[in-house]
Amino acid sequence: MKKKQLHVNRWLPEREKLVRETFIVPEEPGATVLQALLYIYEETDSTLAFRYSCRYLRCGLCGLQARGKPQLACRTKLAGVNEIAPLPRLPLLRDLVVDRAAYFSTIQGLSLYPVGPAAEPPVILREDPLHRNLMACLECLCCVASCPAYCFGEPCFAGPYLFIKLGQLHLDPRDMADRKGQAQEWGIKRCRGCEKCVCPNGVRLKETIILLSP
Ligand code: FES
Repeated sequence: MKKKQLHVNRWLPEREKLVRETFIVPEEPGATVLQALLYIYEETDSTLAFRYSCRYLRCGLCGLQARGKPQLACRTKLAGVNEIAPLPRLPLLRDLVVDRAAYFSTIQGLSLYPVGPAAEPPVILREDPLHRNLMACLECLCCVASCPAYCFGEPCFAGPYLFIKLGQLHLDPRDMADRKGQAQEWGIKRCRGCEKCVCPNGVRLKETIILLSP
Protein backbone atom coordinates (compact mmCIF):
# COMPACT_ATOMS: atom_id res chain seq x y z
CA MET A 1 0.00 0.00 0.00
CA LYS A 2 1.27 3.47 -0.89
CA LYS A 3 2.15 5.63 2.13
CA LYS A 4 3.01 9.27 2.68
CA GLN A 5 4.18 11.66 5.34
CA LEU A 6 1.65 13.96 6.93
CA HIS A 7 2.91 16.83 9.08
CA VAL A 8 0.47 17.71 11.85
CA ASN A 9 0.81 20.99 13.73
CA ARG A 10 -0.48 20.22 17.22
CA TRP A 11 -1.38 22.87 19.76
CA LEU A 12 0.06 21.92 23.12
CA PRO A 13 -1.63 24.06 25.79
CA GLU A 14 0.92 23.10 28.47
CA ARG A 15 3.67 24.61 26.29
CA GLU A 16 1.43 27.21 24.65
CA LYS A 17 2.81 26.49 21.21
CA LEU A 18 2.17 24.61 18.00
CA VAL A 19 4.44 21.61 17.61
CA ARG A 20 4.94 19.95 14.23
CA GLU A 21 4.87 16.16 14.24
CA THR A 22 5.21 13.85 11.28
CA PHE A 23 3.14 10.72 10.80
CA ILE A 24 3.16 8.05 8.12
CA VAL A 25 -0.32 7.42 6.74
CA PRO A 26 -1.70 5.23 3.95
CA GLU A 27 -2.57 7.09 0.78
CA GLU A 28 -5.28 5.06 -0.89
CA PRO A 29 -7.05 6.54 -3.92
CA GLY A 30 -9.76 8.92 -2.79
CA ALA A 31 -8.63 8.90 0.86
CA THR A 32 -9.51 12.00 2.86
CA VAL A 33 -7.63 13.94 5.51
CA LEU A 34 -10.17 12.70 8.07
CA GLN A 35 -9.35 9.10 7.16
CA ALA A 36 -5.66 9.85 7.72
CA LEU A 37 -6.44 11.35 11.14
CA LEU A 38 -8.49 8.30 12.09
CA TYR A 39 -5.62 6.08 10.97
CA ILE A 40 -3.15 8.02 13.14
CA TYR A 41 -5.53 7.86 16.09
CA GLU A 42 -6.13 4.12 15.75
CA GLU A 43 -2.68 2.92 14.70
CA THR A 44 -0.05 5.43 15.82
CA ASP A 45 -1.03 8.00 18.43
CA SER A 46 -4.32 7.79 20.30
CA THR A 47 -3.57 11.08 22.07
CA LEU A 48 -4.11 13.08 18.88
CA ALA A 49 -7.14 15.34 19.45
CA PHE A 50 -9.40 16.32 16.56
CA ARG A 51 -13.13 16.73 16.07
CA TYR A 52 -15.53 14.95 13.74
CA SER A 53 -18.92 13.30 13.93
CA CYS A 54 -20.81 12.62 10.70
CA ARG A 55 -17.77 11.72 8.53
CA TYR A 56 -19.22 13.50 5.51
CA LEU A 57 -20.42 17.07 5.25
CA ARG A 58 -23.17 17.27 7.83
CA CYS A 59 -21.87 18.18 11.27
CA GLY A 60 -19.29 20.86 10.44
CA LEU A 61 -17.01 19.73 13.25
CA CYS A 62 -13.95 18.63 11.29
CA GLY A 63 -12.66 22.04 10.16
CA LEU A 64 -8.89 22.47 9.97
CA GLN A 65 -6.23 24.20 7.93
CA ALA A 66 -4.94 22.27 4.88
CA ARG A 67 -3.30 23.49 1.68
CA GLY A 68 -3.11 26.92 3.28
CA LYS A 69 -6.81 27.44 3.87
CA PRO A 70 -9.61 26.31 6.16
CA GLN A 71 -11.30 23.14 4.94
CA LEU A 72 -13.37 20.22 6.16
CA ALA A 73 -11.18 17.18 6.85
CA CYS A 74 -13.93 14.79 5.73
CA ARG A 75 -14.16 16.45 2.32
CA THR A 76 -10.52 17.23 1.64
CA LYS A 77 -8.61 14.65 -0.35
CA LEU A 78 -5.35 13.55 1.25
CA ALA A 79 -3.56 13.64 -2.10
CA GLY A 80 -1.68 16.92 -2.28
CA VAL A 81 -1.99 17.63 1.45
CA ASN A 82 1.35 17.40 3.25
CA GLU A 83 0.67 19.52 6.31
CA ILE A 84 -2.35 20.33 8.46
CA ALA A 85 -2.99 22.67 11.38
CA PRO A 86 -5.89 23.83 13.53
CA LEU A 87 -8.19 26.55 12.21
CA PRO A 88 -6.53 29.96 12.57
CA ARG A 89 -8.05 33.03 14.29
CA LEU A 90 -9.91 30.96 16.89
CA PRO A 91 -8.81 30.05 20.41
CA LEU A 92 -7.12 26.65 20.58
CA LEU A 93 -7.82 23.87 23.04
CA ARG A 94 -5.52 20.99 22.06
CA ASP A 95 -3.89 19.64 18.91
CA LEU A 96 -6.39 20.35 16.10
CA VAL A 97 -9.32 21.26 18.35
CA VAL A 98 -10.45 24.88 18.50
CA ASP A 99 -12.68 26.38 21.18
CA ARG A 100 -15.99 26.63 19.32
CA ALA A 101 -17.91 27.39 22.52
CA ALA A 102 -15.72 30.43 23.17
CA TYR A 103 -16.56 31.72 19.69
CA PHE A 104 -20.31 31.14 20.01
CA SER A 105 -20.35 32.80 23.43
CA THR A 106 -19.27 36.04 21.74
CA ILE A 107 -22.57 36.22 19.84
CA GLN A 108 -24.88 35.13 22.62
CA GLY A 109 -28.07 37.10 23.12
CA LEU A 110 -28.71 37.95 19.45
CA SER A 111 -31.88 35.81 19.20
CA LEU A 112 -30.65 33.86 16.19
CA TYR A 113 -34.01 32.20 15.61
CA PRO A 114 -37.22 33.49 14.00
CA VAL A 115 -38.65 36.16 16.30
CA GLY A 116 -42.37 36.77 15.92
CA PRO A 117 -45.79 35.17 16.20
CA ALA A 118 -46.11 31.49 15.32
CA ALA A 119 -46.74 31.07 11.61
CA GLU A 120 -47.74 28.45 9.09
CA PRO A 121 -44.99 26.05 7.96
CA PRO A 122 -42.55 28.12 5.86
CA VAL A 123 -43.34 26.78 2.40
CA ILE A 124 -42.12 30.00 0.84
CA LEU A 125 -38.56 29.45 2.15
CA ARG A 126 -38.02 26.54 -0.19
CA GLU A 127 -38.63 28.83 -3.16
CA ASP A 128 -35.87 31.32 -2.37
CA PRO A 129 -32.57 30.10 -3.85
CA LEU A 130 -30.40 32.40 -1.71
CA HIS A 131 -32.14 31.33 1.48
CA ARG A 132 -31.72 27.69 0.49
CA ASN A 133 -28.04 28.37 -0.14
CA LEU A 134 -27.57 30.11 3.22
CA MET A 135 -29.22 27.19 5.00
CA ALA A 136 -26.35 24.99 3.78
CA CYS A 137 -24.17 26.55 6.52
CA LEU A 138 -22.69 23.73 8.60
CA GLU A 139 -21.43 26.07 11.33
CA CYS A 140 -17.90 24.79 10.74
CA LEU A 141 -16.46 28.31 11.27
CA CYS A 142 -14.12 27.96 8.28
CA CYS A 143 -15.47 31.32 7.06
CA VAL A 144 -14.49 32.99 10.33
CA ALA A 145 -11.07 31.32 10.33
CA SER A 146 -10.38 32.59 6.81
CA CYS A 147 -11.63 36.17 7.30
CA PRO A 148 -8.68 38.63 7.48
CA ALA A 149 -10.88 41.20 9.25
CA TYR A 150 -11.78 38.83 12.10
CA CYS A 151 -9.88 38.74 15.35
CA PHE A 152 -11.19 36.72 18.29
CA GLY A 153 -11.86 38.87 21.31
CA GLU A 154 -12.33 42.11 19.38
CA PRO A 155 -15.83 43.30 20.16
CA CYS A 156 -18.56 43.81 17.58
CA PHE A 157 -17.24 41.87 14.63
CA ALA A 158 -18.18 38.21 14.61
CA GLY A 159 -16.99 37.43 11.11
CA PRO A 160 -18.94 35.96 8.19
CA TYR A 161 -20.69 33.26 10.23
CA LEU A 162 -22.90 35.76 12.03
CA PHE A 163 -23.88 37.41 8.76
CA ILE A 164 -24.92 34.04 7.32
CA LYS A 165 -27.18 33.52 10.33
CA LEU A 166 -28.59 37.04 10.08
CA GLY A 167 -29.07 36.56 6.32
CA GLN A 168 -31.03 33.36 6.89
CA LEU A 169 -33.33 35.19 9.28
CA HIS A 170 -33.62 38.31 7.13
CA LEU A 171 -35.01 36.12 4.34
CA ASP A 172 -37.29 34.20 6.70
CA PRO A 173 -40.84 35.63 6.48
CA ARG A 174 -41.56 34.47 10.03
CA ASP A 175 -38.85 36.67 11.49
CA MET A 176 -39.79 40.16 12.64
CA ALA A 177 -36.44 41.29 14.07
CA ASP A 178 -34.24 43.92 12.43
CA ARG A 179 -31.44 41.72 11.09
CA LYS A 180 -29.93 44.44 8.92
CA GLY A 181 -29.70 46.60 12.03
CA GLN A 182 -27.94 43.80 13.90
CA ALA A 183 -25.54 43.38 11.00
CA GLN A 184 -24.70 47.08 11.32
CA GLU A 185 -24.17 46.80 15.06
CA TRP A 186 -21.94 43.80 14.53
CA GLY A 187 -19.63 45.54 12.14
CA ILE A 188 -20.70 44.45 8.66
CA LYS A 189 -18.92 47.58 7.43
CA ARG A 190 -15.64 46.05 8.59
CA CYS A 191 -15.99 43.52 5.78
CA ARG A 192 -13.36 44.69 3.29
CA GLY A 193 -14.88 42.81 0.38
CA CYS A 194 -11.58 40.95 -0.10
CA GLU A 195 -13.44 37.66 -0.76
CA LYS A 196 -10.79 35.67 1.11
CA CYS A 197 -13.37 34.02 3.35
CA VAL A 198 -14.13 30.46 2.27
CA CYS A 199 -17.10 28.19 2.77
CA PRO A 200 -16.37 24.50 2.13
CA ASN A 201 -20.07 23.90 1.58
CA GLY A 202 -20.61 26.57 -1.03
CA VAL A 203 -22.50 29.21 0.98
CA ARG A 204 -22.42 32.43 -1.02
CA LEU A 205 -20.72 34.70 1.49
CA LYS A 206 -20.37 37.74 -0.75
CA GLU A 207 -24.08 37.74 -1.56
CA THR A 208 -24.85 37.52 2.15
CA ILE A 209 -22.83 40.65 2.84
CA ILE A 210 -24.55 42.49 -0.03
CA LEU A 211 -27.95 41.35 1.23
CA LEU A 212 -27.39 42.82 4.69
CA SER A 213 -25.47 45.93 3.76
CA PRO A 214 -27.32 49.27 3.99
S1 FES B 1 -17.10 15.04 9.90
FE1 FES B 1 -19.01 16.10 9.79
S2 FES B 1 -18.67 17.70 8.34
FE2 FES B 1 -16.79 16.63 8.42
